[in-house]
Amino acid sequence: MVATPGAQGGEQGWSSRMAFILAAVGAAVGLGNIWRFPTLVGENGGGAFVLFYLGCVLLIGMPLMLSEFVVGRAGKSDAVQSASRVAERSGVSRRWRVFGGIEILAGFLILSFYSVVAGWVIYYVWLSGGDFLSNALAGEPFRGAFPDIGQDAVSGMMGALFESPVRLILVHAAFMAVTVWIVASGVHDGIEKAATWLMPAFFALLVCITIYGAFTGDFGRALAFLFTPDFSKLTPPVMNEALGQAFFSLSLGAGGLITYGAYVAKDVNLAPTAATISLTDTAVALVAGLMIFPIVLGVGLDPSAGPALIFQSLPVAFQTMPAGSLIGLLFFILIFFAALTSSISLLEGPTAWAIDRFGLRRPVAAMLLGLLAFLIGVACALGYNVWADVRPLGFWGIFAETDILDTLDGFTGKIMLPLAGLLLAIFVGWKADRRLIEAESGLSGGAFALWRFVVAWLCPAAVSLILLFGLFPGLLTG
Ligand code: PHE
Repeated sequence: MVATPGAQGGEQGWSSRMAFILAAVGAAVGLGNIWRFPTLVGENGGGAFVLFYLGCVLLIGMPLMLSEFVVGRAGKSDAVQSASRVAERSGVSRRWRVFGGIEILAGFLILSFYSVVAGWVIYYVWLSGGDFLSNALAGEPFRGAFPDIGQDAVSGMMGALFESPVRLILVHAAFMAVTVWIVASGVHDGIEKAATWLMPAFFALLVCITIYGAFTGDFGRALAFLFTPDFSKLTPPVMNEALGQAFFSLSLGAGGLITYGAYVAKDVNLAPTAATISLTDTAVALVAGLMIFPIVLGVGLDPSAGPALIFQSLPVAFQTMPAGSLIGLLFFILIFFAALTSSISLLEGPTAWAIDRFGLRRPVAAMLLGLLAFLIGVACALGYNVWADVRPLGFWGIFAETDILDTLDGFTGKIMLPLAGLLLAIFVGWKADRRLIEAESGLSGGAFALWRFVVAWLCPAAVSLILLFGLFPGLLTG
């Protein structure tokens, strides 16, 4: 008798299809949409990147998301165990479970640095909250943000945070603690409850701030920036970046989706659900662009500021905008909600695995794994100050210049997620029993044939090409 993850404690999984959708959309929508996507669009020249990204989502991301759910619900367990069971029932080697293992490890490693970045968000909630309060107490709640300090000081806030290991570690610890607490509370009472409260609030904030930006910022230029394609910018490394971003943003290859799939009731039709989740995630990324760029462009700031776009450019913009201190606070609360529902899914994958593998109780598993991920995250945080010179994979060309956090981010995003996705595609496209897969997918006839064709041929081909050029960029240049 093998336990179902989450079954410890008498849980049965999601209480409705809507709860599943909210939890999975919560997993997908996160820092990837609001911090990483606009940053990448800004750095890679706008429209052409967006178009290529959309292609990746539709042709690779969406079919693979369905594959993850199918494996999860067919296996009804954590990522490793689910893969193993599907392999067994399909009469192929149980070694195929290795992709489940890569997924869980990837999710765990992503959690460790994700929590560090989410910690910055907490810090900014704190700063902008205090700022809004002091404005409100002064009787001017609708002033711009940080009225009493100069522009340099505002854009220097990020640097000041990064210089302080103690602050970085404290906010990282706070974020990880909240994540652990929710996962420890269980699938139904923790994860589902968090998603059903936080996601609607997130969407309300997203709509409000986007409308605010459209009226106070430069919406026309933002539209042009996001959607005018300049195909000369679309080099192979940029394509590589776009595919990696699609994996990251949709949470593919990181264990969470298989695990969430295991909690879905049999009567839920997985194919339209996977489509809904992928499209919602993509829409949120685009709307996030339409929320951020009008504000940034409206005050004449550089849209290609890189990772500092959110933490440096936006606070400067909020300084001069009407009600800037209120909007700034709401904006960082929005990112915090998005990051939290994602980090929950990052921790749930490894937690479900530890529960099944070692028979641990859920709170114990969540706490131990959260603590471990926290410690790795501490190294990432120190990589901005005391260990600023450390280059963990410095011997490897593509990682020669990257600090600890960026190395972990690059290694998981560029290598582990696509690798897990590649194996998943081969497994579902070629190895797994056709009837089993068909029954779980909710597709039939031509639609099923098309999906399986894409998973069997297109996904492996595209993902291997990207992996190849991601790992050996030299192949492209000469
Ligand atoms: N999709 C999340 C985001 O966009 C990150 C994530 C990756 C979450 C992998 C779970 C698994 O921020």
